[in-house]
Amino acid sequence: MDSFSIIEGMDVESSYKNNNFGFMMYSLVRLYKPEKCYEFGVLDGYSTVSIACALRDNKLGNLTAVDLFEEYQYKNSTIDSVEQRLKKYNLQQCASLVKNDVFSEIQNIEVGSLDFVHLDISNDEEKLKNFLFYGYNKMKKGCIFLFEGGSKERDEVEWMKKFNKGKITNIFDQEFKLKFDFLTFEPFPSLTFCRKK
Ligand SMILES: C[S@@+](CC[C@H](N)C(=O)[O-])C[C@H]1O[C@@H](n2cnc3c(N)ncnc32)[C@H](O)[C@@H]1O
Repeated sequence: MDSFSIIEGMDVESSYKNNNFGFMMYSLVRLYKPEKCYEFGVLDGYSTVSIACALRDNKLGNLTAVDLFEEYQYKNSTIDSVEQRLKKYNLQQCASLVKNDVFSEIQNIEVGSLDFVHLDISNDEEKLKNFLFYGYNKMKKGCIFLFEGGSKERDEVEWMKKFNKGKITNIFDQEFKLKFDFLTFEPFPSLTFCRKK
């Protein structure tokens, strides 16, 4: 099955689906040809499969996809169901799943080793700041760092207000600008593309 049919036909729920962000992630991985790739936040595997398809088509690189799966207290999935999905599309060679907390897993990664990172763990300001505290030095110069959110609309979603979460757009300060070139693709839920300087 070709990658476009897989990404378009995936029978999963994902906020990324409406605006075809799977194709965007696929295209970025095809373009930059990263080798060591990590994803944090898998749920049913929409983004995982999209990235893994690109690695397979590149014939280069692999993805480690990290999630709490069954241990997450809100909307979650099972590691077995995502494993089955990867098998169904014959992507097991390109992607492996790890059940762990992002902030524990990131500390196991070698400094300066990452080429590509996708962060989608119900992002908010604090999670992004924490992630960068541990994760920034794990990224190589030129590393692509994608994260869910970054638009004003995404900062206004109901649960962010209800749980008093800090706005993601607060992270775009002078320090961030010194560390990354970046732009936000605005369609909801929005996706911010960063490249480590
Ligand atoms: C919005 S979903 C990910 C959606 C997915 N990327 C997609 O393409 O549809 C958020 C995921 O982050 C995971 N998550 C939240 N906090 C986490 C943490 N601290 N460590 C690991 N995973 C976490 C949840 O289990 C959930 O599956």
